[in-house]
Amino acid sequence: MITMDTTFDVRHCETSAIDEVDFDNIAFGNVFSDHVFIMDYENSEWKKGVIQPFGPIKMSPASMVLHYGQAIFEGMKAYRQQDGSASLFRPTDNIKRFNLSAKRMCMPEVPANIFLQALVKLVGLDNDWVPSSDDASLYIRPFMFATDSHVGVRASNSYRFMIFTCPVGAYYSKPVRVKVETEYTRAAMGGTGAAKAAGNYAGSLYPTKKAGEEGYDQLLWTDASTHSFIEECGTMNAAFVVKGKLLVPATSDTILDGVTRKSAIQIAKDLGIEVEERIISVEELENAAKEGTLQEAFGLGTAATVSLMCTIGFETWDFDLPSVDSWSVAPQLKKTLENLRRGVSEDPYGWNVPV
Ligand code: COI
Repeated sequence: MITMDTTFDVRHCETSAIDEVDFDNIAFGNVFSDHVFIMDYENSEWKKGVIQPFGPIKMSPASMVLHYGQAIFEGMKAYRQQDGSASLFRPTDNIKRFNLSAKRMCMPEVPANIFLQALVKLVGLDNDWVPSSDDASLYIRPFMFATDSHVGVRASNSYRFMIFTCPVGAYYSKPVRVKVETEYTRAAMGGTGAAKAAGNYAGSLYPTKKAGEEGYDQLLWTDASTHSFIEECGTMNAAFVVKGKLLVPATSDTILDGVTRKSAIQIAKDLGIEVEERIISVEELENAAKEGTLQEAFGLGTAATVSLMCTIGFETWDFDLPSVDSWSVAPQLKKTLENLRRGVSEDPYGWNVPV
């Protein structure tokens, strides 16, 4: 059945797959909601968007994305509110970042109003898929890729923008062991590290696999030229608590401007926690670990929200963080953020956007 929306064509799925989902045991990223949003860019303009049942899409084997990697994405979430409604969390921040990534990767920007309408319409349609249990939410994955069928290297002229959603539980089931990476690099100055470009993630897989073979779950990425400064933690921003102060690597050309990162910083400041956003050296962190003043270490990201580290592997030794029972900052940030996103507490910042 096709119904005309004011902005998008909507083709509803015939049978919802929702009854097949065990909402009490949702793993991250394997289950997809009923509908997907698709909008194509051709001849220098965006065509009318379509919402249709989730399913495979056709592609030419010569699609440029498959060869030269012009692909970007975002990760964002919708939360079930205490009053039963659903809200998107800071969608306009993700839209802005998506369009910065698009610019860096030589792709067209998606008009912010159409992007937001698509999110509201899609999540509204699949509203029943927004989970209500603790630690669960609807993960939203907007992405765009090059679709020209062409083999020469150049920016594509045509693109496809899509959004799908999936109900998710926790990304990590327990605190993670991370290794300070001093050989491989996630991003270099002048590169694409500050963009959410698909290739950044592909490049991280081999070093992460090697770290896995050494017994670590994730990497603490360091700067490309000296490997002396902490950048990110796996696919998240990194944060540390030393002598009660929250230390967060400052954003740069090589560090993603995370929405969870900036939300946590704002909340920390408003809770009266001292925050420093600056360069953090591996040496400073290692000295704090040796002196016993490194109290907490965690990642901040959309998928994993506030994700605790239990061990940091330095060059010659492993430092085990103090027991989580003694932590104060990360649990406060997690709780405050969680309550705000679920409408349990007030949202003084206007971050929740109702669907
Ligand atoms: C997110 O937090 O949304 C991420 O970017 C992680 C994702 C690659 C699973």
